[in-house]
Amino acid sequence: MAQIAIIPGDGIGREVIDEGVRVLTYLSERHSLGLELSELDYGADRYLREGISITDEEMIQLGENYDAVFLGALGDPRVPSNVHAKEILLGARFKLDLYVNYRPCKLLDSRYTPLKDCEPEDISFVVFRENTEGLYTGVGGQFKRGTPDEVAIEAELNTRKGVERIIRAAYEHADKHHLKNMCMSDKSNAMRHGHDLWQRVYKEVAKEYPHIESRHLYVDVLTMEMVRAPNQFDVIVTNNLFGDIVTDLGAQLQGGIGLAASGNLHPGKFGLFEPVHGSAPTIAGQGIANPMAAVLTAGLLLGWLGHTELEAQVEQAVAACLRNNCVSAELGGSFSTSEVGDAILRELDKLN
Ligand code: IPM
Ligand code: MN
Repeated sequence: MAQIAIIPGDGIGREVIDEGVRVLTYLSERHSLGLELSELDYGADRYLREGISITDEEMIQLGENYDAVFLGALGDPRVPSNVHAKEILLGARFKLDLYVNYRPCKLLDSRYTPLKDCEPEDISFVVFRENTEGLYTGVGGQFKRGTPDEVAIEAELNTRKGVERIIRAAYEHADKHHLKNMCMSDKSNAMRHGHDLWQRVYKEVAKEYPHIESRHLYVDVLTMEMVRAPNQFDVIVTNNLFGDIVTDLGAQLQGGIGLAASGNLHPGKFGLFEPVHGSAPTIAGQGIANPMAAVLTAGLLLGWLGHTELEAQVEQAVAACLRNNCVSAELGGSFSTSEVGDAILRELDKLN
């Protein structure tokens, strides 16, 4: 039995999450997984209605009452500051201490990568992005704001504990999945304090995993190498901001943001799963959004709960739909959001 909170969120989030929920419900019934899904209405509507995105108490309850959260996307033109999205998503990452942002990058069909001569086996790696510190903490300040002498400082926070636990999580994943290659990425040639800490901790932890090849690339070089020869990577571990950037690059390598899944995790405790894409207000309500990232994200959630064979099935089903051109407009097809969902369920049915 597992308690899953469903937060459809805003815009196309609501549409794609429906398809993910259909997949979760189907597999839960088919395999008697006992998933209990409960919908929560955090998002722009609630914010506009009540002036609250999520209270501290509700955030605590989310962490305590559920094993995992399945989140659509947050963002709505009626809330131009996007404050509710920040409070819910970044709030959950920080307040629930979800220190791993797990972002797999896997090419399922070679026609969808912009790289030439690339097969699925060439693009298959995961990024472990630190998710609770770095340049995302808001530490810093402004001085003489709005004057010609204004100063703005954004400080990068790196703690021994934070750096060590994300590096360890990356190695644990590599070890468990028999992945041979680890690459830590920083900018220690220019950032002499924080990234020196990354260097020292990485070397220390690497010693505990002598069977894994441990490499390092400066982040600028990493971006070049990801495009030049993505097949050299199994696991990439990096800080919060660099991880944000390289996972968008990775998303394009695997066929675009409509196929990118992610999990915000506190290993052993709690996971919040979200497709990497946003709420796409310009196409919301038309039933044309691509639900594949949401469905793949539902797959990650199943894997997190220990149903790794079902996670693999979800991936296989999506790959079959790509192969058979059962895709939405974003990928050049004419399927509606729910028709893509139907096609994925038909493929799952064949596997069960
Ligand atoms: C992501 C997003 C967020 C981030 C934004 C919305 C703050 O880009 O999840 O990658 O930078 O982490
Ligand atoms: Mn991002």
